[in-house]
Amino acid sequence: MQEKLTEKHKYSHRVLDVCCGGRMFWLDKSDHRAIFIDRRKETHLLKDATVKGGVRKFSVWPDIQADFTRLPFQSNYFGLVVFDPPHRVTNGTKSWMHKKYGTLQGDWQEMLKQGFSECFRVLAPGGTLIFKWSAYQIQLSCILALTDSKPLFGHRSGKLNNTHWITFMKDLQDAERGLTTDAPACGDGQDDTQDDKATTDD
Ligand SMILES: C[S@@+](CC[C@H](N)C(=O)[O-])C[C@H]1O[C@@H](n2cnc3c(N)ncnc32)[C@H](O)[C@@H]1O
Repeated sequence: MQEKLTEKHKYSHRVLDVCCGGRMFWLDKSDHRAIFIDRRKETHLLKDATVKGGVRKFSVWPDIQADFTRLPFQSNYFGLVVFDPPHRVTNGTKSWMHKKYGTLQGDWQEMLKQGFSECFRVLAPGGTLIFKWSAYQIQLSCILALTDSKPLFGHRSGKLNNTHWITFMKDLQDAERGLTTDAPACGDGQDDTQDDKATTDD
C-alpha cells in the first residue's frame, strides 16, 4: 500500500537552491523538485555576440526572495541543499560578472559562515549539501574554514581548474555541534590561481 505523503515528507524530498541566480547550472530551470531562492529578483540585458541581435536577456527569478543567512524554513527539512554563493570581492557594478553572479560585499565571511549554518540547519540529517566555489580570488581552504562540517569529496572543473564542487553530508554530530570556527584572514581581492588541496584533480 502506498504511504500517504505528509507536508513534511513532500518537502524532505525536495531540493533547496539557496542562491539560484539565473539557474544556469540547472538542466531544467523549472525543475518542479526544487525550490529556488535568491535575495534579488531582476532582469538584465547582457551583450552577447553569439546571439541574434547581440543582446541576451538574463533573469534572476527566485520562487522565494530571501536571504540565505535567514532561510524561511524549519530545521531538518530538505534532502538536498545547493549553495553556490558569489565568489568575487571585486567586480564592476555594471559588469556582466556582477549581474550574473553577484559580488561579495561587507562582512562576507560572516555572511557565508551564516549561510553554511543555515544550509545545514534546514538540511535533514543524512541529507546532502552541494557547495560550489570558484577559487579565482579567494582560496577554497579559506571558505571551507567557515564551517565545522567536514566535506566528503570534491571535484574540480573550469578552464583554470579552479571551480570546486564539494559534497557535504549532514550527520547527527554536525546537527548537535553547531558552528564555532572563527573566520580566517582571507580575501584580499587578489586573483588566486594556486591549487587548493581539498579536492581531487580532474
Ligand atoms: C554565483 S551566483 C549563483 C549562480 C547559480 N548557481 C546559477 O546556476 O546560475 C550567486 C547568487 O547568490 C545570490 N546571493 C548573494 N548573496 C545572497 C544572500 N545573502 N542570500 C541569497 N542569495 C544571495 C546572488 O544574488 C547571486 O544570484
